[in-house]
Amino acid sequence: MTKQTPMMQQYLQMKEEYKDCILFFRLGDFYEMFHDDAILAARELEITLTRRDKKNNIPMCGVPHHSAKGYIERLIEKGYKVAIAEQMEDPKMTKGMVKREVVQIITPGTVMDDMICETDANYIVSIYHDLNDYSIAYSDVSTGELKVTTCNLEYVLNELSNIKPREIILNQPVSDLIHQSMKYITEVISIHESSDVYHQASQLSGQQYHAVNLLLSYVQQVQKRDLSHIDEAIQYETKQYMQLDMYAKRNLELTESIRLKNKKGTLLSIFKECKTPMGHRKLKEWIERPLINETQINARLQIVNTLNEAFMMRHALREALESVYDIERLVGRVQFGNVNGKDLIQLKYSLQQLPILKSLLEPYENIIPNLQNIEKLQPLTDLLESSLNETQSMSIREGNLFKDGFNATLDEYRDASRNGKHWLAALQTKERERTGVKSLKISYNKVFGYYIEVSKVNLASIDVTKFGYERKQTLSNAERFITDELKEKESIILGAEEKALELEYQLFLKLRDEVSKYIPNLKHQAKQIAELDCLQNFSEVATNHQYVMPKISKSRTLHLKDARHPVVETVMDKDQYVENDCLLDDMNFIYLITGPNMSGKSTYMRQVALISIMMQMGSFVPCSEAELPIFDQIFTRIGAADDLVSGQSTFMVEMLEAKNALTNATENSLIIFDEIGRGTSTYDGLSLAQAMIEYVHNEINAKTLFSTHYHELVDLENQLMGLSNVHVAAKEHDGQLIFLHKVLPGAVEHSYGIHVANLAALPSGIIDRAKVLLKQFENHHQETMNQIDSETNHVNKNINYTDNNKQQQVIQPAFDLFNEPSIIEQTLKEIDVDGLTAREALNVLYNLKAKLK
Ligand SMILES: Nc1ncnc2c1ncn2[C@@H]1O[C@H](COP(=O)(O)OP(=O)(O)OP(=O)(O)O)[C@@H](O)[C@H]1O
Ligand SMILES: [Mg+2]
Repeated sequence: MTKQTPMMQQYLQMKEEYKDCILFFRLGDFYEMFHDDAILAARELEITLTRRDKKNNIPMCGVPHHSAKGYIERLIEKGYKVAIAEQMEDPKMTKGMVKREVVQIITPGTVMDDMICETDANYIVSIYHDLNDYSIAYSDVSTGELKVTTCNLEYVLNELSNIKPREIILNQPVSDLIHQSMKYITEVISIHESSDVYHQASQLSGQQYHAVNLLLSYVQQVQKRDLSHIDEAIQYETKQYMQLDMYAKRNLELTESIRLKNKKGTLLSIFKECKTPMGHRKLKEWIERPLINETQINARLQIVNTLNEAFMMRHALREALESVYDIERLVGRVQFGNVNGKDLIQLKYSLQQLPILKSLLEPYENIIPNLQNIEKLQPLTDLLESSLNETQSMSIREGNLFKDGFNATLDEYRDASRNGKHWLAALQTKERERTGVKSLKISYNKVFGYYIEVSKVNLASIDVTKFGYERKQTLSNAERFITDELKEKESIILGAEEKALELEYQLFLKLRDEVSKYIPNLKHQAKQIAELDCLQNFSEVATNHQYVMPKISKSRTLHLKDARHPVVETVMDKDQYVENDCLLDDMNFIYLITGPNMSGKSTYMRQVALISIMMQMGSFVPCSEAELPIFDQIFTRIGAADDLVSGQSTFMVEMLEAKNALTNATENSLIIFDEIGRGTSTYDGLSLAQAMIEYVHNEINAKTLFSTHYHELVDLENQLMGLSNVHVAAKEHDGQLIFLHKVLPGAVEHSYGIHVANLAALPSGIIDRAKVLLKQFENHHQETMNQIDSETNHVNKNINYTDNNKQQQVIQPAFDLFNEPSIIEQTLKEIDVDGLTAREALNVLYNLKAKLK
């Protein structure tokens, strides 16, 4: 290879230090990327890849520095990190290589500006682990929030799925399996060596302290500045909230839909009445972390109730909230030091709403906690009102930030420059008259300052030296001149403008410092407004959808009358949704739900889970009456959420979800098992399902909804005291299946799968053939069942679940029954299905049928 140029050497040296970043290397007006970075960026940003240095043939691409932000944004969005290297010296003044330095690293978890979504928190997480325990710290650097907790490995992934970080920092590698699962949550995972940067950790455990340090030292390294914008760490316990494992959250579609991974069709999408971004972020937190404390739940419910009744007040409240901006992030920017004039104007608008909010809430003081100490913010509101111009540019270096009259010196400078401008206009008129050139003009540019411009055409008719014109610049169609008079005025005008700009900048920094003094109070108000916004959202939604106030049951009874699925009902015409009841208590705590495909089993089970979560969020619920216990945890096994990414098969996910529920549920939990066992062969599935129900019944006593198409299971009602059959009704009419969606006592015998397949317009040949086969299978199945000794199939209540061997012995008989296969089974076993042509398959079926006769 030929020798590298000095600039390339400088680049490569720098790149060595920032290997995991895309290095934006400033060259004049461009940020350039080289080598692999260039290839990657060209692909991701769809920009042209070129070559630098013909000899070495180095791949290169670049973006103009003034439009770099958009490009960086796109790379961050895609999960890359970007390091920005700036020129630290003016190239014009420098001999040899210009000094360059990385001034900032932008990563998905540490971005500050408007690059981040306003309604979502932008979290970065650190996980510090030693032998057994894991401490997790997370922060949204745009608001300064910082929290820390400790948990065991099992909860790490749960907690991560709660936090949904954009970036994860580890102190050491984790196992491949965990790493894979983490990648499912975020792509951006790095290992970092922490240093001691956090000094306020009085109440933190040693390990939590390490986690916070790990996080903050990373943030500090990336942002290259001190950490005064980050709040003191708040310690929390995961057990403070209802435990919803990763699966439950996904399956119940609380904030993200399973299929499209967006908000549509989620519980979150119902609560769309928040007026502020702060409220929206808080709402997400409330949905994902439902409360378990009765007093706290009741407090929220009471406020919602009050807001429901006070219609006028709520209306006015919503109107006022409309003008409240994202105080949390505005304050975050004040703390961080990148606040601009527009931000402070938004802060002013927000502050102006505070007295209005307070006076609205005052009459309800004993129910709705009041905004406190807002009076202390009045001087700040006054200051912002008297100081800042409403219209201004984003940059705090371009002036025009402050109102006339705010600062006397500034006014003086402005007068000078404004007068100067009048004077220039007068000069232009005078020069036009003097020279007789009507198109003569006086203009300004940054390089040459003020000048008189005369077009080439007119130039011939005047004698420039006679007028004292001194040539400054020659263009293709004009000449530019300066005169002594103009020079003199220029220095006055530019001097005044420059001084004004500098003064405005200084005044702005002072103003920013002044605002900083109010930060704790502002944060406090922001938090209260966020909560208030959530609660008025609950109230608005409750009113719009006729929700009722749920009651917390003292006796662990779950009694819902005329319950609806909060999301499904909204996509239907009014009164289309069929309401259903649910009654589970300590005596009768398992529903075994049967019913045709498409009848509404899954919908029914989800609605019970969602209603429980809604109450524990503090929201009213879609019922005509509702009494619920406080659930400590909700477990689900719903649908086929294949987890291909983390390398698990459909059935494996199903079993993992079941295991999670069966090992962690308590009598205070809610379990939703939707058709468990369907991912494997019928008899395996049936056996597993029955064994699980028995276990829940005998060992856990958790409230459980269990849907199934294994009609063999309905006999369990006679053997398990706490279990009862219910079914979702449908009726057959003229060969058509009519779905009633009504949940009624008792069981049904048929699944009507073929009817539903017909509805889906499967080719009629297949439907007809399936009907014939169904008859055969049913006949055969009946025969087999008749062979089964009913005694052995009965539930054995004396199973010792703690002893694996014994467990196998007890369950064994169920499998033994099938050890002597019939001729048909034998034949079926021997068929190599994959090796058959369609015709051969048909023949086999005909033969089998013949054997039956
Ligand atoms: N209570 C109801 N009122 C009106 N429509 C309903 C009701 N419950 C369910 N539905 C409608 O029926 C459809 C099917 O419901 P669901 O998926 O719950 O059926 P399922 O019994 O679980 O079927 P499968 O056995 O195939 O899983 C829903 O998408 C919804 O449109
Ligand atoms: Mg279903």
